Amino acid sequence: MKGPVRIAPSILSADFATLASELQSIERGGADWVHVDVMDGRFVPNITIGPLIVQAVRRSTSLPLDVHLMIVEPERYVAEFVRAGASTLGIHVETCPHLHRSLAQIREAGARASVVLNPSTPAAAIEPVLGDVDQVLVMTVNPGFGGQKFIQSMLEKITTLRRWIDERGLDVTLEVDGGIGPETIGAAARAGADVFVAGTAVFGARDRGAAIAELRRAAEAR
Ligand code: DX5
Ligand code: ZN
Repeated sequence: MKGPVRIAPSILSADFATLASELQSIERGGADWVHVDVMDGRFVPNITIGPLIVQAVRRSTSLPLDVHLMIVEPERYVAEFVRAGASTLGIHVETCPHLHRSLAQIREAGARASVVLNPSTPAAAIEPVLGDVDQVLVMTVNPGFGGQKFIQSMLEKITTLRRWIDERGLDVTLEVDGGIGPETIGAAARAGADVFVAGTAVFGARDRGAAIAELRRAAEAR
């Protein structure tokens, strides 16, 4: 069953020089989770933040932290990111030869386990572990940068995953990330997503509360 609509602003598009007040602006503005993009310059071309910044984010907000690892060999850092404050920790299927074990490691460390799929990775790649995760994240852009265009053909993958989750009666959130804005969020919601990451659409707006409310309205509209 689809859960309540959750909006998770991605701090990738925030002003890092004033991160604490950026976080306050989205918390006051009604955000549900904070999405934190960790990039290593290996799995993706960009380099962003590490556990130290996750710790600082943890101290600056009471919202749950949805940490998205875009790094090679993520199993080496699972415990550290959970200790730093991740409530949900996401690892890419493309980076994990022992995906089942790596996901179990996240739960053992005390966080919700999220499995992430690149646009070119089929839903079937995670079908065997669907019963072992708390979240599936469908990338709707190729990971690495904010501000890219939503890939429409991902809607079919979202629909498939929603069907599998519901048929099996699983308690799994279905998240989308990349190019989510007022024009694209409705289609993703209708396809079955219930958690929505938005970087540019939230932090690019002067009024974060209004931007979050607009996204929520569009996601809840039938
Ligand atoms: C992309 C990141 C996203 C990114 C989304 O690699 O995983 O979380 O911040 O940014 P927008 O919403 O601008 O596409
Ligand atoms: Zn992300």
